[in-house]
Amino acid sequence: MTLQTKPLDNVGVEVLGFNINQPYTDALKEELRTLFYEHGIVVFRNQDITPENQIRFSAVFGPLEMHPLKTTTNTENPELFELENGGDKDKLYTAFYKGEEIVGRLDWHMDLHYTAKPNQGAVLTAVEVPGEDGLTGFGDLAKAYDSLDNETKALLEKIEVAYAFCMQRRHMRYVDLEGYEPGPHSPLKPSDANFPDFADAAYPAVVTHPISGRKVLEIVEQFLDRIITPHQAALSNDEAIELLERLVAHTRKPEFHYWHEWLEGDMVLWDNWRGMHCTTGTKPGVRRRINRTTIMGDVMLGRVITKE
Ligand SMILES: [Fe+2]
Repeated sequence: MTLQTKPLDNVGVEVLGFNINQPYTDALKEELRTLFYEHGIVVFRNQDITPENQIRFSAVFGPLEMHPLKTTTNTENPELFELENGGDKDKLYTAFYKGEEIVGRLDWHMDLHYTAKPNQGAVLTAVEVPGEDGLTGFGDLAKAYDSLDNETKALLEKIEVAYAFCMQRRHMRYVDLEGYEPGPHSPLKPSDANFPDFADAAYPAVVTHPISGRKVLEIVEQFLDRIITPHQAALSNDEAIELLERLVAHTRKPEFHYWHEWLEGDMVLWDNWRGMHCTTGTKPGVRRRINRTTIMGDVMLGRVITKE
């Protein structure tokens, strides 16, 4: 091993001794992939990042995927998805939280989870950083699974959960709605934000990671809707709701989270089959630009619900 690591707060590692422009030997690529599957959240600092070398780095972990929202990809490098606050799109993504106006806040989620075929991972790099604003949180759902009691683990083997894609946050059943008010331009339906419609997706409550073999608690609060046929697991409808509330509360425990405060030159790689992420958003007018590349997931972790 030529790379050193140091643990981040709670989950994930920071890699030391890596330069994004160094030659990618087979041995180095293998080392990077090993760190990725072992830790799930991998941070690199002080990198000299360009769109081209971000794409080259990301391709170490698999073929890259375009995002369904093609309007936000970089024209020269369509693999690069540009996340921007402080620009034209802010009004769509502005809402009120306990009276405070915030742009681009996102609840804990997995990318493309609503398609039943989430991407395997992604790489975020900082282009323009907003100081203390705009943190990205990462949560390790393999660690969250490991810490469940045996009774809950056994029950979860019998359960399938459904996710319902939705643009109106106040209709999401398991996010924290206390003090939330949508903004005047918040999208009401997917086409208002150039999203296609998605059918509901269903997942086993515990998914075995296709590569690492780790068991992952497949519970993320954004779009989480219901347990499918709860009586098959001897649960009443009320018990099914209480179980999801308890599991969401479990995933919110700080011991499973790492919060990244962005500095220029930062690059974060995460395993989207194992972890969830979120962002705190920014105050109106604050500039923040993050570039994302997406590592394709060519595995259906869930299924699309055509009818129940
Ligand atoms: Fe995301």
